[in-house]
This record gives sequence, structure tokens and C-alpha cells, in this order.
Amino acid sequence: MVNEKQQSSAFDLTGRVTIVTGGASGIGRAVAQKVSAMGSTIVIADLNDKGGKQVADEIKKNGSKAIFLEIDVSDPAQAEKMVSKAVTAFGRIDALVHSAGIGVESAFLDTSPKVWSSIINVDLSGTFYCCQAVARHMCANHYGRIVTLASTAGIRGGTGRAAYGAAKGGVITLTKVMAVELASFGVTVNALAPGAIETELVAKMHSDETRTVYRRGIPIDRYGTPEEVANVAAFLVSEESRYVTGQIIGVDGGFLAAGIMTGGT
Ligand SMILES: NC(=O)c1ccc[n+]([C@@H]2O[C@H](COP(=O)([O-])OP(=O)(O)OC[C@H]3O[C@@H](n4cnc5c(N)ncnc54)[C@H](O)[C@@H]3O)[C@@H](O)[C@H]2O)c1
Repeated sequence: MVNEKQQSSAFDLTGRVTIVTGGASGIGRAVAQKVSAMGSTIVIADLNDKGGKQVADEIKKNGSKAIFLEIDVSDPAQAEKMVSKAVTAFGRIDALVHSAGIGVESAFLDTSPKVWSSIINVDLSGTFYCCQAVARHMCANHYGRIVTLASTAGIRGGTGRAAYGAAKGGVITLTKVMAVELASFGVTVNALAPGAIETELVAKMHSDETRTVYRRGIPIDRYGTPEEVANVAAFLVSEESRYVTGQIIGVDGGFLAAGIMTGGT
């Protein structure tokens, strides 16, 4: 039987500080709003200064603390700067949701070295730089929650995802390695693997054909929302997820579970 005190403390992040990279838009923005509503102070780190400041202002208007830092996650020096500025502002970092990322649909045979390295630099190396910089701080404090953004494209093959899928596959393995190495420091590390979520990235990345074909493979029969991904991130940054680490959690309307789907059951 759960009493009232236990109920109200569930998912309570009062006094915690969460960095959300990519927090200016899409999934990161929804995570920043959700986690701030749970009581956490928020550091938005993004290249997009207009969008980032706007999200920080929205959070402050709702009564929580927030700052925006203009950061390119693909630069290790800027990842270090993100950590030192967050610690200077708020004294600690309890959680990182690393949502900064870019995507492109490009067939394997057509993918240029330039496209390949830009996706790998931001999506995979950016995850490494930010997680490492934040984890060093968390390990010293013997507490932390790290959530990376992988993708169903990092688990399944699919057309047009040579660079993006490879980067996300790398994020998945990196997440598992971090989970194993950081467990003894009280730091958990998990990845979200969203399917098709309606954001600016998907507006650019999914052609009309991709949308039609993709929907046929989703048992829940629609694209997801950023808020639906943020709900799972909220659990992973909370105290309640303390025994969950090294997991890759699909938020995909059943896409990864599905094989053949006829009209009937
Ligand atoms: N939307 C989806 O369907 C989907 C599916 C699977 C995985 N994801 C992943 O979720 C994450 C968020 O995606 P989204 O759909 O919210 O995209 P989005 O484009 O709405 O937001 C991404 C944010 O990352 C920021 N960003 C990009 N490059 C950056 C850099 N070098 N440094 C700092 N910030 C940078 C952008 O400015 C933007 O604010 C990405 O890692 C993406 O790969 C998205």
C-alpha cells in the first residue's frame, strides 16, 4: 500500500540539477520542461541560442531555475566548458540527458565522407565528449543519472541510415560500457531508442514516402510526441530508477517488437 507521502515523493527532483543538451528543440525541450516540472534546476546546452534562451525563459516563468549555455557538443573543449559553467552556476550536476543530435537520410552508396563525419562527430563523438565531461564530475560526487539518445536506427538496419544508424549503434555500445564502468561510482547510464517522433529533425529527415512506409511498421499506428519520450527520460533521471542501468529502452509505438503485420490479429 503506497501512502500519500510516498506518492508525492515519486519522481521528485527537488534540489537536483539536470543538464539537457539539445534542449532548445524537440525531445530535449520536452525533457527540460518535464524534468523542471519535477523540481529540477535545468541547464539547457545547445547551439541554437534563440531557441535555448526561449526554453530557459519558459521554465523560469513556471517558477523553476534555468540557464542557457551556447555549446557545440562536437567540441570536447565546449563540453568541458558546459560542465564548469553548470557547476559554477548551481554547484552540482545530478543528471545529463544528452539529446543534441542531427540526422540525415542518405543511402549507403551515396553517403559522402563529409556527411559521414558530420553525423559521427555530432551524434557519436558529441555523446562521448559530453558524457565523459559530466561523468567525471558525477563520479567525484558518487551520484549521477545519464540518459543518452540512441534510436531504433541504431538497432535495426533501414534504408538511408548508414551514417545515422552507425552513430546510434555506437551510442548504444558506449552507453553499455559507461553503465558497466560507472556503476561502482553510483552513476547509472541508460539510452532511449525513440522510433519516429514528431520533431524538427524528423520534419527534415523523413520524406513523404518514409512516413507512409514507417507508419505501416508501427503497431500503435502513429508517430510519437516529444512528451512521450520525455516521460521515460523523467523516470530514468529519477531516484526510482536506481536499479536500472545499461538498458536501451525503445519508445517507438512497438516498432522494434513488430515483424509481419497483417490486417487481422
Ligand atoms: N525525432 C525522432 O524521431 C528521433 C528518433 C530517434 C532518435 N532521435 C534522437 O533524439 C535526439 C533529439 O532529436 P530531436 O528529434 O528532438 O531533434 P531536434 O532537431 O528537434 O533537436 C535537436 C537539438 O540538438 C541541437 N543540436 C544539434 N547539433 C548540435 C551540436 N553540435 N551542439 C549542440 N546542440 C546541437 C539542435 O540545435 C536542436 O536544438 C537526437 O539525438 C536524435 O537523433 C530522434
